[in-house]
Amino acid sequence: MNFAQYPSLSGRVVFVTGGASGIGADIVRAFAATGSKVAFVDIQDEVGQALADELAGSAHRPIFRRCDLTDTEATQAVIAEIGRELGPIGVLVNNAANDDRREVDDVTPDYWDWSQSINLRPQFFTAQAVRPQMRELGYGSIINFSSIAWRGGAPNMPAYTTAKAAVLGLTRSLARAFGADNIRVNSIEPGAVMTEKQYALWYKTPESVDALVSRQCIRTVLRGEEIARTALFLGADDSRMITKQSIIVDGGLS
Ligand SMILES: NC(=O)c1ccc[n+]([C@@H]2O[C@H](COP(=O)([O-])OP(=O)(O)OC[C@H]3O[C@@H](n4cnc5c(N)ncnc54)[C@H](O)[C@@H]3O)[C@@H](O)[C@H]2O)c1
Repeated sequence: MNFAQYPSLSGRVVFVTGGASGIGADIVRAFAATGSKVAFVDIQDEVGQALADELAGSAHRPIFRRCDLTDTEATQAVIAEIGRELGPIGVLVNNAANDDRREVDDVTPDYWDWSQSINLRPQFFTAQAVRPQMRELGYGSIINFSSIAWRGGAPNMPAYTTAKAAVLGLTRSLARAFGADNIRVNSIEPGAVMTEKQYALWYKTPESVDALVSRQCIRTVLRGEEIARTALFLGADDSRMITKQSIIVDGGLS
């Protein structure tokens, strides 16, 4: 198969949250391969550093910084620092999340707040922090991460699904607020993406993967690369009139 390359992304500064592993790592790889200057943050130190090393031969070696996104001040400080180091950020990918499961009766106020503090709050405050940098550039693309989980009403992760539904509201409000500065804001809603973590926790047998894939219109295992390619498109000038939208990438799962 052949996939598009995006000349507009060459040399563009891209900031990815939760980029050390899973879909985020595929996003880091995809932007690095297209010639972007990528910076990514995560709490997984060694894994993040290893990914930066793996991509050392890229046109621009990606920069990894440890940052806990539940710490809003630290997150905003890293965004300012990257802007000084690499130049103004043109693409923000709000990928990080924690899809921890907890039944309704076991959710406490602290757990609820913790879940929002990683699954929702950072997506607002990173956008707030990159806004002046994108204004300086005269353009920008913010890509938020939702999930199809809220649409189906996944019963055992109510704090997560609430946050992921809220991401669509956040996306629409920010698209309206930032649009006059030519800053676009969109979301991606991945389906069941088979990352190492998903295999280790939920899809331990080939039968369980087959059962899942048989519920998709396209009977192919969904991988992070597919989500990364959607992020490339939304980051590039090719999608320059697309804003306030959410794109589902799930192979037609039901
Ligand atoms: N995998 C799926 O099937 C799927 C489905 C729907 C939506 N999504 C969404 O796609 C995105 C990526 O999913 P994934 O499966 O790769 O997730 P993941 O849990 O495998 O990876 C998330 C990354 O975020 C990092 N992270 C977690 N907490 C952090 C914190 N406090 N500070 C900084 N970094 C932190 C993790 O270390 C990890 O590298 C998420 O927004 C997720 O909700 C995934």
